[in-house]
Amino acid sequence: MSSAPTTPATDPAKAALIALHRGLERLGPGSDAVSRDILKALPRLPSPPRLADLGCGSGAASLMLAAHFQAPVLAVDLSAEFLGDLAHRAAARGLGALIRPVLADMGALDWPEASLDLLWSEGAAYNLGFAGALGAWRRLLAPLGVAVVSELSWHVPNPPEEAAAYWRAAYPDVSDEAGNRARAEAAGYRLLGLRRLPRQAWWDSYYDPLLARIAKLRPGGSPELAEAIAETETEIDIFRRFGDSYGYTFYILGAD
Ligand SMILES: C[S@@+](CC[C@H](N)C(=O)[O-])C[C@H]1O[C@@H](n2cnc3c(N)ncnc32)[C@H](O)[C@@H]1O
Repeated sequence: MSSAPTTPATDPAKAALIALHRGLERLGPGSDAVSRDILKALPRLPSPPRLADLGCGSGAASLMLAAHFQAPVLAVDLSAEFLGDLAHRAAARGLGALIRPVLADMGALDWPEASLDLLWSEGAAYNLGFAGALGAWRRLLAPLGVAVVSELSWHVPNPPEEAAAYWRAAYPDVSDEAGNRARAEAAGYRLLGLRRLPRQAWWDSYYDPLLARIAKLRPGGSPELAEAIAETETEIDIFRRFGDSYGYTFYILGAD
């Protein structure tokens, strides 16, 4: 989660991270079923809605949004490699005309105010900090617009110290759902709903494919790749032992 590359592979460490993730369906934990449930329960949006997927990676959510709404999706990422993968996947699914890849910093989008009806972001807001991401994105939402943003969140009041220490170092911003709700309200949103990603989805969508990739790439890998693998294995080990105490929560946020 914390190790996804953010720029084209100009240095060996970033190249290693890209090698580890490229070609995976998802670059972080997610679930098409959960996303579809969220979509079904959203307030009514204009037709067609103006859509964006921020920190889209190789575009699992972009593709789902395009297929669901049959409307164009602005798919923003800092990685040209992942956007290239998305373009290929979109073409293969007959969605090429609806996916608009945008190579840009999602924290500094110069799009007009109120230009989105649905802003989606999975497993990516942490790159700006949850509060920073929500603050930067608020102006983009139309008055009746909705933001669906997933964020790593504590799911128990007193998480085990080893998990807390790991995340303090990896992502000091982690909060519980009440804390993230307060951050969202402070940034000018209204909480419409919360949805937790089931624990099993972490394995099915992300960690199992990543472990298979690691097994394939490990032999003869570069030192940078070995380091990226070691970091990833530590993250997975923490989740295996303490994944009941934290997880991804989708925050469904209204602009009104
Ligand atoms: C953990 S991945 C999640 C990708 C995708 N949403 C998914 O769930 O498969 C995080 C993504 O955010 C992108 N990213 C990080 N910082 C970014 C920024 N400032 N602007 C745009 N994209 C960024 C990374 O390149 C990466 O593709």
